[in-house]
Order: sequence, then C-alpha cells, then structure tokens
Amino acid sequence: MEKIVDQEAAFQARIDAGEKIEPKDWMPEKYRKTHIRQISQHAHSEIVGMLPEGNWITRTPTLRRKVGLLAKVQDEAGHGLYLYSAAETLGISRDELFHQLHIGKAKYSSIFNYPTMTWADIGAIGWLVDGAAIINQVMLTRTSFGPYARAMVRICKEESFHQRQGYEIMLTLCEGTPEQKAMAQDALNRWWWPSLMMFGPRDAESPNTEQSVKWKIKRKTNDELRQQFIDITIPQAEILGITVPDPDLKWNEERQHYDFGEIDWDEFWQVVKGNGPCNKERLQARNDAWNNGAWVRNAARAHAEKRAEKERTAEAS
Ligand SMILES: [Fe+2]
Ligand SMILES: [Fe+2]
Repeated sequence: MEKIVDQEAAFQARIDAGEKIEPKDWMPEKYRKTHIRQISQHAHSEIVGMLPEGNWITRTPTLRRKVGLLAKVQDEAGHGLYLYSAAETLGISRDELFHQLHIGKAKYSSIFNYPTMTWADIGAIGWLVDGAAIINQVMLTRTSFGPYARAMVRICKEESFHQRQGYEIMLTLCEGTPEQKAMAQDALNRWWWPSLMMFGPRDAESPNTEQSVKWKIKRKTNDELRQQFIDITIPQAEILGITVPDPDLKWNEERQHYDFGEIDWDEFWQVVKGNGPCNKERLQARNDAWNNGAWVRNAARAHAEKRAEKERTAEAS
C-alpha cells in the first residue's frame, strides 16, 4: 500500500513539474481509465461530427464551398484517427473503442445530435462549434499525457481554420440578400444554446473538475470557459449584424464580462441521455458504416493471410 502511495506521489510530482507522461510510464489505474474515456470520447466526437456536415457536401452553394467543406470533414476524420491512436497507447484496442460507440455505451459530444437544416448551419457550426471546441482544446495542448497533448497541437491549428471558414460563410450570408441574412440568423438561433452546452454542466454539478485540474486535463472550469466563449463570440455576432437568442444577454461593466440567461439544463441532460433530435440517426449511421465496411476488412484479412502463406511456402522451398 505504502509503495503505491509513494508511486502516486512521485507521479503527481512529475506532472506538477510539467513533465509529460508517456504510454509506457507507470500511471495510476484511474489516470489510465480517465484518459481512455476522455480521449476516446473526443475521437468519437470527431467521427460523429462528420455526419451533420457531410449532409451538405452534395448541396454546397458553390464549387469553392464544396472544396472547403470536403477538406474540413476530412480534417475531422484525421482528428478522430490521431485520437484513436493516442487512446490505443493506453492498452485498449480500436475494435473495442468502436464497439463501445456502436452499442451506445461510449459518449460523444451532444452537439452532433442536432440536425443541419440549411446551408447556414454549416457556417454556424464552423463559427460556433469549432470555436467552442478550440476554447476547450487549447488547454489540452499542455495536458500531462504526451500523446494526447501532441495530437492536440495539430488539431487546434486545423480547428482554428475551420472556425474562420465557418465565420466567412456566415459573413457572406449576412452581406447577401435579406433571405440569406435571415437564414444566418435562424442558424444562430438554433445553434447558440447547444454551443453553450458544449462546455458541460455548471461547475457546481461537475464533480470531476478537481481531479482533471490536477492532471492538467483542465486548466479552467466549465463556467470560466463558457464565459470566455461568450465574451469572444458576441462582438463577432455584432460584426455579422445578427443577434444571439438570449434576452438576458447584457454587458456587465463591473464584471467586465457578458451576463447571460439560463441554459435549458433539462434539454442538455435529455440529449446526453440519448433523447436528442438525432441521437438514434447518428448511431445508426456509424453502425451502418461499420457493417457496410465488413467486406473490406474481410478482404484485407484474406489478402494478408494469403501473402503470409505464400511467404511461408517460399521459405520452405
Ligand atoms: Fe476536429
Ligand atoms: Fe473542426
């Protein structure tokens, strides 16, 4: 028992000193489990996040927009793959990670359980959803687990490009016809509150925060990050000339922050529990992709076996 206490203290001292923890280093079981859960949830979010946007690839307004959207969706696939690889270094297989997603056991970001109804939603997602993701993720570039921190450096660079691309879509619509501007406003109305929910429950209801801060997974609390996002985003909405759907939003001179209205926490928990507008559809799409890809996996396996067999016979003769 004493030995484990010493080991844990030495482990924490390394983190406090700013050292990175690498896959083969000793780590407490809770650290390993927490990281498998967090990194795989993050990976699943990147992969499921391709679905709402993929919905518009065949319907972009111009060829230029199609090129941009295709590249963005491919970036998200890349983010998912780096993150699955990072999770695998902790001793879990990719098949197991996929399985947890497919049976609905693993979580992914609830924001992707909302539908993309119009082209403006693609702008709003880039601007708000990638924007919120960056605020959550920049602190992860300095997190204690080496493979996760290194993956996040590149991911954050790409996310910030996505955010600008989304904002540019919004700007174009807002400078367009009254109908286009109304479409941008409608997208903001639908995506604003779900984007604020991306920062998670209020601090008072977020029991893991303290441990996450110790391991440098978190450097700021959910409420602090949410406030930061609102403070950054409101001036951007002003430039667009559209308004967030919150009658209580007001600059607070004393706090030097925006005050804002209450989030619908009932909706938040409903979507987390699987009852959002698209939860079933998203899981079905991932399951279909897995099942429809079975023949590719089987063919690759058969090919590898044949090759190995050939090599064995060549060696024997
Ligand atoms: Fe991403
Ligand atoms: Fe992104």
